[in-house]
Amino acid sequence: MAQYFDNANLPSNIKEFETIFLNTKFSFKSDNGVFSKDKLDFGTRVLLEALPINEMNGDILDLGCGYGVVSIILSKFIDGNFDAVDVNRRALHLCEINKKLNKVSNINFIESNCYDELNDKKYNYIITNPPIRAGKDIVYKMLREAKNHLKPNWQLYFVMRKDHGAKTAIKDISDLYKTEVICKEKGFFVIKCFFD
Ligand SMILES: C[S@@+](CC[C@H](N)C(=O)[O-])C[C@H]1O[C@@H](n2cnc3c(N)ncnc32)[C@H](O)[C@@H]1O
Repeated sequence: MAQYFDNANLPSNIKEFETIFLNTKFSFKSDNGVFSKDKLDFGTRVLLEALPINEMNGDILDLGCGYGVVSIILSKFIDGNFDAVDVNRRALHLCEINKKLNKVSNINFIESNCYDELNDKKYNYIITNPPIRAGKDIVYKMLREAKNHLKPNWQLYFVMRKDHGAKTAIKDISDLYKTEVICKEKGFFVIKCFFD
């Protein structure tokens, strides 16, 4: 099945949209062949709104960053160092454009299949709206291998629709983390994964 990130042959049609988060206006350039090309995805907004932004700092990973919404928005409110990874080159190109457009500087965008290019780097927070359409193996790899990339006692947050298997995902990772559903909105669950 063709995926939105198999985009090498799709004609480009860059567009720009604006969105408001915590009374701050953001502009994003988007294109054919990237996730949620017309607007900030609803699940991503639910995820962002559920995060404990006021407590967050340190090293933060935006996993499956698309055209950069999560790290670009968070970097306006959090004094942290962000890495953001994706496999979609077109999305990563947009990330660099969006970084300049929104005047943020503390984000490194990296082409990486999951954690492959991050070596042993560890984070205070890993944040993801995982790529359901990439399949269960990739999604579970992202969720399970987060454990190896979190500093001791820090956290993974992800959003998943109930009908995309949120409860099964929680069960699958329960041998690795404690989990808490911190928000449920219109069928989207935001899940915090943490250690004892
Ligand atoms: C649901 S989208 C979320 C995008 C963005 N974070 C947002 O919230 O709008 C998931 C992203 O994961 C990326 N992705 C798919 N497979 C991946 C992989 N193996 N490693 C890293 N990123 C991947 C996709 O290209 C896509 O941009």
